[in-house]
Amino acid sequence: GKDTSDTEQRVKIAELSKSSVCMKEPERVNEILTSMRNSGSSTLQVISDFDMTLTRFAYNGKRCPTCHNILENDKLISEECQAELQNLLDTYYPIEIDCTRSPEEKLPLMVEWWTKAHDLLVQQKIKKADLALVVRESEARLRDGYKEFFKHLNDTCVPLLIFSAGIGDVLEEVIRQADVFFSNVKVVSNYMDFDESGVLRAFKGQLIHIYNKREGALLNTQHFQELHSRSNVLLLGDSLGDLNMSDGVSDLQNILTIGYLNDKVDERRQSYLNSYDVVLVKDESMEVPNAILRYIT
Ligand code: TMP
Ligand code: MG
Repeated sequence: GKDTSDTEQRVKIAELSKSSVCMKEPERVNEILTSMRNSGSSTLQVISDFDMTLTRFAYNGKRCPTCHNILENDKLISEECQAELQNLLDTYYPIEIDCTRSPEEKLPLMVEWWTKAHDLLVQQKIKKADLALVVRESEARLRDGYKEFFKHLNDTCVPLLIFSAGIGDVLEEVIRQADVFFSNVKVVSNYMDFDESGVLRAFKGQLIHIYNKREGALLNTQHFQELHSRSNVLLLGDSLGDLNMSDGVSDLQNILTIGYLNDKVDERRQSYLNSYDVVLVKDESMEVPNAILRYIT
């Protein structure tokens, strides 16, 4: 019928017809895609969140770990500390994804979560030298299609900023072990500060949590200045706070935002549709971002 052909006309990329894809304004998405394609890869930069965006939310029905969760290993921290971190997760994760509370209401609670978790980690005398093994033993998993994603961006010389409220040292190890830590990748995250004997003593710099990515972005104006000719942005995230990752971009022309909606799908669908251009519902792959990248570069 007419509806189907209209839909087909609206969708320029076959993958955007996947059942996991939801868009409030497909026409607008189309326009942005056309404009970005016309400008070409030399004007593009990609900004992505890490946990539950580049990594999977679940695999075979089981939740996959975040950077913080990866550290919950007997080799690194005591059972007691693992239980306490789990406690924090049980307390604060439901708040993170609660769509009945405003970001303003959640912000101090997220600061509390990150601060308590980092304080616990610092008490554990974590050794830098143990991180690689712990990452190797973990069930962290990049989304299917990650190789094409990283490789395509590297091949087309498109800079990728990974902007994460996770732990930079852990995140870097994950992408290093996956052989995708190419030279076009820059990471902004919470980095561990080790003493001269390689033992964790603190976290460096200003804390990044899921609701202060705006401040984090503005602290990195230097990075965005260097990329000022790249006025088109593809942004990937899984939290509404991730939308602020592009706040520091200078001379922004077009931005296309892709949001992974992994959990509490029914409750959060509308707010994600209102906030992200393309919403991927329980989609564990990089298929859609990859198809978009193939189209615009
Ligand atoms: P992201 O910015 O890379 O997505 O990382 C933030 C995620 O880390 C966020 O979804 C919550 C998660 N997290 C834990 O799993 N455990 C913790 O102890 C903390 C502080 C955060
Ligand atoms: Mg995330």
